[in-house]
Amino acid sequence: MSAEGQELASQSGYEDGAAGGPGAPTPLSALEGMAGLTKRDIQLFIEGGFHTVEAVAYTPKMVLERIKGVSEQKATKLTRSTAAKLVPMGFTTATEMHARRSELISITTGSKQLDTLLAGGIETGSITEVFGEFRTGKSQLCHTLAVTCQLPFDMGGGEGKCLYIDTEGTFRPVRLLAVAQRYGLSGEEVLDNVAYARAYNSEHQLDLLNQAAQMMTETRFSLLIVDSATALYRTDFSGRGELSSRQTHLAKFMRTLQRLADEFGIAVLITNQVVAQVDGGPSAMFNPDPKKPIGGNIIAHASTTRLSLKKGRGETRICKIYDSPCLPESDAMFAIKEDGIGDPSPKDLDNN
Ligand SMILES: Nc1ncnc2c1ncn2[C@@H]1O[C@H](COP(=O)(O)OP(=O)(O)OP(=O)(O)O)[C@@H](O)[C@H]1O
Ligand SMILES: [Mg+2]
Repeated sequence: MSAEGQELASQSGYEDGAAGGPGAPTPLSALEGMAGLTKRDIQLFIEGGFHTVEAVAYTPKMVLERIKGVSEQKATKLTRSTAAKLVPMGFTTATEMHARRSELISITTGSKQLDTLLAGGIETGSITEVFGEFRTGKSQLCHTLAVTCQLPFDMGGGEGKCLYIDTEGTFRPVRLLAVAQRYGLSGEEVLDNVAYARAYNSEHQLDLLNQAAQMMTETRFSLLIVDSATALYRTDFSGRGELSSRQTHLAKFMRTLQRLADEFGIAVLITNQVVAQVDGGPSAMFNPDPKKPIGGNIIAHASTTRLSLKKGRGETRICKIYDSPCLPESDAMFAIKEDGIGDPSPKDLDNN
């Protein structure tokens, strides 16, 4: 792993690191010796981006076979010795599922209005997408959550570090300091608990997830942010004939994000832009807001909760639930403040 990752891992202020905490994933090294798997075999899978038993269990065998140096036989050994024995992958009861879901926590957004809309905040174990035009507060929301995810559970936090992938160069540590102060946290610690990487192209953006997985096996993270998930895809695959390869690569990226959410129980927050809908058909005439999020159905299917942000008056913004498996279509108003995302003043609430 990188020196940076090593350093972060060793600075962990969280006692129950990913390797040891309750419900934590099992490192792949646990399989050494099982079904004749050698240390070298395990190493091949780790180099291929699979760091935990869960990661392997959740991946189809044919994908494992594509890893450099891995034969079909080896992939079979690994899946047989893992999926079957260590990770529960069969049916369960709804009661059990209900109990498991109640253990999932939500991370506060900093705004009471927004938290209420989201039934607590940003959910762990799944992908939340925030889309909207420029200046609607997508990045500001990311900055606030990069701090609140570090708070203790009883303050609406996730008691973990944050991994921040920035594709647009808009990450500003000074914004984290302002939020840290608001919650009475040490600015220095808050900054140390955010692992930051700038992604320069879509290939690199995917590679960073591999590094992220490695870091998550060593220390407890509660949130992974990608701001923005789609921007680099727009520039890297801009030609007319490149749409299908763009979507294939984007799908792989989203699948990897989902795998990290499943494997480590972290919340994943991605941002997305909108584009004008280019259909001049009858639907455009009746659609008061013909802007739609980019990424097509790849993003639509991969994001569990989709939030649409719009500008309101002054510092206010409106968040609408665009798609969710359990929240009704509804909206709420929040505000972008000097100390992060918060609630609008009563005056603004009344006027809207
Ligand atoms: N320190 C601050 N205090 C109050 N508001 C701020 C502060 N910094 C930025 N803002 C507000 O945040 C808004 C920008 O939000 P943000 O950067 O999150 O937009 P975005 O949705 O990420 O846009 P883009 O699509 O361009 O990335 C601006 O309206 C700006 O006034
Ligand atoms: Mg932004």
